[in-house]
Amino acid sequence: MEKTVSSITVRVFEDKLSGSQYIADALRSRIHTNDSDSKRTVLGLATGGSPKKVYDLLVESVETGELSFQNVTSFNLDEYYPIGPESRNSYHYYMNQRLFNHTDVDPGQVFIPEGDIEVSEVDHYCKAYERKIAGYGGIEIQLLGIGGNGHIGFNEPGSSIESETRLIHLDEKTRRDAADSFGGIHQTPEKAITMGVKTILNAKKIYCMAWGAHKARPVQQLIEGEITAEWPVTFLQTHANVELIIDRAAASLLTDSSNFIVN
Ligand code: PGA
Repeated sequence: MEKTVSSITVRVFEDKLSGSQYIADALRSRIHTNDSDSKRTVLGLATGGSPKKVYDLLVESVETGELSFQNVTSFNLDEYYPIGPESRNSYHYYMNQRLFNHTDVDPGQVFIPEGDIEVSEVDHYCKAYERKIAGYGGIEIQLLGIGGNGHIGFNEPGSSIESETRLIHLDEKTRRDAADSFGGIHQTPEKAITMGVKTILNAKKIYCMAWGAHKARPVQQLIEGEITAEWPVTFLQTHANVELIIDRAAASLLTDSSNFIVN
C-alpha cells in the first residue's frame, strides 16, 4: 500500500532489501526507457550506508547483461574536503568500489565533487559543478539518504533552501558518525563539498531512502514536521515528485504508519 502525504509518496517496505529492490527496479526501467529513446540518463547519486544494496542490485543487473551504464551520466552529491580520491574514506573510492568498477560506465561521464582541489579554487569549482549539471539538462533521478540530523547531501542543519554546490562545515554529529572509519574524530575532515539544497530540489524525481530505527526521527520530521532549515530534509516537502522509500523501523514514529505498509 502507498499513501501520499503532501506531495511525498511514502512507501514502507518489510525491509531494506525489498525497498532497495523497488528503487533498483525504477532506475533500471528508466535507463532502459531512455536507452530505447537514445537518451542519456542523468543520475544524482548518494553514498553512505543507505544506497549500498541498491548499488549491489544494479551491479548484479550489469553482470547478467540486463543493464548497461553506457548511456548513464552521474553526479554525486558530495565529497569530504580535503581528501584524495585514493583515500579509502573518500566518496570517489566508495563509488568506484561499490558501483562504477563493476559497470561499463564511461569514466568521463562520472562526476563527483573533487576533495583535493586548492581552497582558492573551490568557489569556482562549485559553480562549474552547477553549470555541468545544467549542461546535461539537469538531474533526472536523484538518490538520497537522510542523515540522523536531517541533512541531505552534506546540507547540514541551517542550510538554506536556496543553497547551491559549496564548501560547508560538517556538523559535529556528522563527524562523530564518520569518526570510526577515519580512525577517530581528530582525523575526520571538518569540511565537505556538497550539492546545495536547491541543486537537489532541481532534480526531476527524487528517491529518498531510510532504513532502521535511527532514521525514524528525521523521517517523522520529513513527513509530519514544519518546513525548516533546522531539518533540511523537510525542504523535500516543496518538491513535486519525491518518493520516500523506508523500512518499518524507519516508519515507526509516523503517526499513521499502518496506512503505508507495503508487503
Ligand atoms: P547513511 O547516511 O546512508 O550512511 O545512513 C545518510 C546521510 O548521512 O545522508
